[in-house]
Amino acid sequence: MKIDGKAYRTIWPGDDGASAVIIDQTKLPHRFETVVLGTVEDAARAILTMQVRGAPLIGATAAYGLALALRRDASDAGLAAAIALLARQRPTAVNLRWALGEMHRAVAPLAPDTRAAAAFAKAAAIADDDVETCRRIGAHGVALIRAIAAKKPAGAPVNILTHCNAGWLACVDWGTATSPIYQAHDAGIPVHVWVDETRPRNQGAALTAYELARHGVAHTLIVDNAGGHLMQNGKVDLCIVGTDRVAANGDVANKIGTYLKALAAHDTGVPFYVALPYSTIDWTLASGRDIPIEERSADEVLTLQGQLADGSVTRVAIAAPGSPAANPAFDVTPQRLVTGFITERGLAPADRNGLLALYPERRESTA
Ligand code: MRU
Repeated sequence: MKIDGKAYRTIWPGDDGASAVIIDQTKLPHRFETVVLGTVEDAARAILTMQVRGAPLIGATAAYGLALALRRDASDAGLAAAIALLARQRPTAVNLRWALGEMHRAVAPLAPDTRAAAAFAKAAAIADDDVETCRRIGAHGVALIRAIAAKKPAGAPVNILTHCNAGWLACVDWGTATSPIYQAHDAGIPVHVWVDETRPRNQGAALTAYELARHGVAHTLIVDNAGGHLMQNGKVDLCIVGTDRVAANGDVANKIGTYLKALAAHDTGVPFYVALPYSTIDWTLASGRDIPIEERSADEVLTLQGQLADGSVTRVAIAAPGSPAANPAFDVTPQRLVTGFITERGLAPADRNGLLALYPERRESTA
């Protein structure tokens, strides 16, 4: 997608052939800065500190991180240590483990002196595949938006609510939840997006609103608690969110607060869709009960980052000193609250049979 007229992905190989470059998402929306990852420790830190975040991008960054590790130590022990380091940085998004599994399969059978070059090529292939997968998610999802638009008065926008950032910044390009939105917009279908701010880290305010604005998509930022009210009053035609892990029965882990939006959508009859690539399905988990939920620092709840009038960016306390805070970063939405999945292979009911109809090759390996 474009920023100020220039096309970007969220991660790309460095010109020296021995590094990867990312957009530092902790600086958005106030500053656009890139960071060069030169070592596996750089990649691990970028994932942990959320310079990169979003399930598919975490996976792509881990893939490049492994390639960086193999430049230094391509032995079996080096490979295992780098995978262990990268895998423990964030627990919920299964794409991290998926990408490391793909990388291991690609390089483990090779002679150590050829592993680093093969790993860079495989990381680039994982990134390219994510771009095409997300493009296809949009190509399928746009049909939903088109169908709703056809029932509205000519020119009236389709109002779509989304939570967190499941946009191109969360992937390598296009996004998952936003891909249908961008493709509808590009096709001339009027769309308007309600963007949940998504406390505590405000991925909606800082990232989704930012990227929609750069692409010229009409949107309105709302506080996390506004969605139910808007749905009750007929102001939301459709919810589309992303996900960090889908269990084999269709339960969906996504950014904290997603479950409450799904409940409100269910109560008000608003269709609630989850957009995902195949790499986000955890076929080993029978239900969402076993999805590990990341617990993050209380500081993220107790403080807010923002820009002052003089342009400086600062962090301020929002609670009296001494109050403890809890910060579960994800929740699980039961599949019964999800109208359907939007995947690169098409739409499906959000249940085990729906997933297996799209991925029949998984019948044998499913939990
Ligand atoms: O903690 P984050 O920012 O990595 O979480 C990302 C999300 O939960 C997104 O909402 C998204 O749906 C998953 S990535 C497409």
